[in-house]
Amino acid sequence: MKSYSTDLNANNSPHTHSNPRKVFLIALILILLTIIHLCIHSSNPPLPFKKIRISSTVYRNIEFEKKCDIFTGKWVPNPKGPYYTNTSCNLIIDQQNCMKFGRPDTEFMKWRWKPDECELPIFNPLQFLELVRGKSMAFVGDSVGRNQMQSLLCLLASVTYPEDISYKYTSNTDYFKRWFYADYEFTIAALWSPFLVEASDADTNGHSLNSLMNLYLDKADEAWVREVESFDYVIISAGHWFFRPLIYYEKNQVIGCHNCNIQNMTALPKYYGYRMAFRTAFRTLRRLKKYKGITFLRTFSPSHFENGDWNKGGNCVRTRPFTSQEMKLDGYIMEFYLTQVEELKAAEKQGKRKGLKFGLLDTTEIMLLRPDGHPSNYGHSLHQNMTLTDCVHWCLPGPIDTWNEFLLDTMLKNEKDDVN
Ligand SMILES: *[C@@H]1O[C@H](CO)[C@@H](O)[C@H](O)[C@H]1NC(C)=O
Ligand SMILES: *[C@@H]1O[C@H](CO)[C@@H](O)[C@H](O)[C@H]1NC(C)=O
Ligand SMILES: *[C@@H]1O[C@H](CO)[C@@H](O)[C@H](O)[C@H]1NC(C)=O
Repeated sequence: MKSYSTDLNANNSPHTHSNPRKVFLIALILILLTIIHLCIHSSNPPLPFKKIRISSTVYRNIEFEKKCDIFTGKWVPNPKGPYYTNTSCNLIIDQQNCMKFGRPDTEFMKWRWKPDECELPIFNPLQFLELVRGKSMAFVGDSVGRNQMQSLLCLLASVTYPEDISYKYTSNTDYFKRWFYADYEFTIAALWSPFLVEASDADTNGHSLNSLMNLYLDKADEAWVREVESFDYVIISAGHWFFRPLIYYEKNQVIGCHNCNIQNMTALPKYYGYRMAFRTAFRTLRRLKKYKGITFLRTFSPSHFENGDWNKGGNCVRTRPFTSQEMKLDGYIMEFYLTQVEELKAAEKQGKRKGLKFGLLDTTEIMLLRPDGHPSNYGHSLHQNMTLTDCVHWCLPGPIDTWNEFLLDTMLKNEKDDVN
């Protein structure tokens, strides 16, 4: 673990390169100002941009500073292997502890995400902890959101362990978690709310994995709303629960249903409920008086069932990532992804008026390429008797650790924007 932070300090120290870069940027700004000045004050048409003589490497450096898209790239081999193991981190839950339950292959832990235009920085736990000193972070969503939180706990475990204080807040400590890092006064919470909006069982046969539920699309789920106001960072997500049979309500009236087979009810697509759930969640955050946090949308996390559906013997036994030629973002996954990103963009615009920030953790396409990252039959569910194969959650360590590399990088860029 040490080697990661040492590497980072040796190679990426912010002080090593900053001066030449600063001088260069100032020079560049002066050149640009001169050009703009010339353009404004000359009767000639403005110079086409490509005629400005800036060498391509210099140009790439500016791009790197300004707008490298860290979410576009590819998985590359990483012989160094993962940040942690199930022995260096003792917080891996059985559901995600694939090595403990006999997963035979290890290659799935030996890939890193490489953005096309830049490097995704190595996760530096000390840097993360300093950034969040005295602050709090909540993961709002389903068990895949909690999966990201578990990854973060392990990424930080090389520096320090938190105290489990869940019992102080809830009796349902399997679903609602709180961890406190005393030495950094940092709190992490998982607020379980798989639909983000209020839901209740509607099936006459009781609750099961595919039973009918009522969804109140205009009412945010109190389970997270009553807790979230004081958090500084909120990572919000939702996904697979929207595939089940659902009756949609607005203003307490049934407006239709999804996959429900009720004769006289209007069939609405699953995207409708998904869109409204995010719209309601974002609107609720905007309207909370004391909420000053930064909200991140972590986008839809695809599952990879092959040889059958999730409830019909499907599994996920691949041991290597797909290339982007082998697997494209399209179909219902694309639709889910676009739906939620549209709602985020709208929230971002409206949030600005209140000084609230919304950000994107764009994980859909990168995870689409990782059919090898799921527990399959090498995880043990909370529900001991459930023999289903898990191609939804992600092994720890594994590709989900990348989400927290994105998270830290995005938080750092946000700090930088604040300073400038
Ligand atoms: C860690 O994984 C190994 C296999 O790599 C397994 O034998 C062991 O039981 C696991 N330990 C824990 C604490 O999960
Ligand atoms: C559907 O039909 C049943 C039986 O006729 C009725 O009780 C129910 O209110 C109807 N539901 C809707 C949404 O119209
Ligand atoms: C699992 O199955 C056994 C035997 O069928 C039963 O006694 C037990 O209560 C079940 N456990 C759960 C968590 O459902």
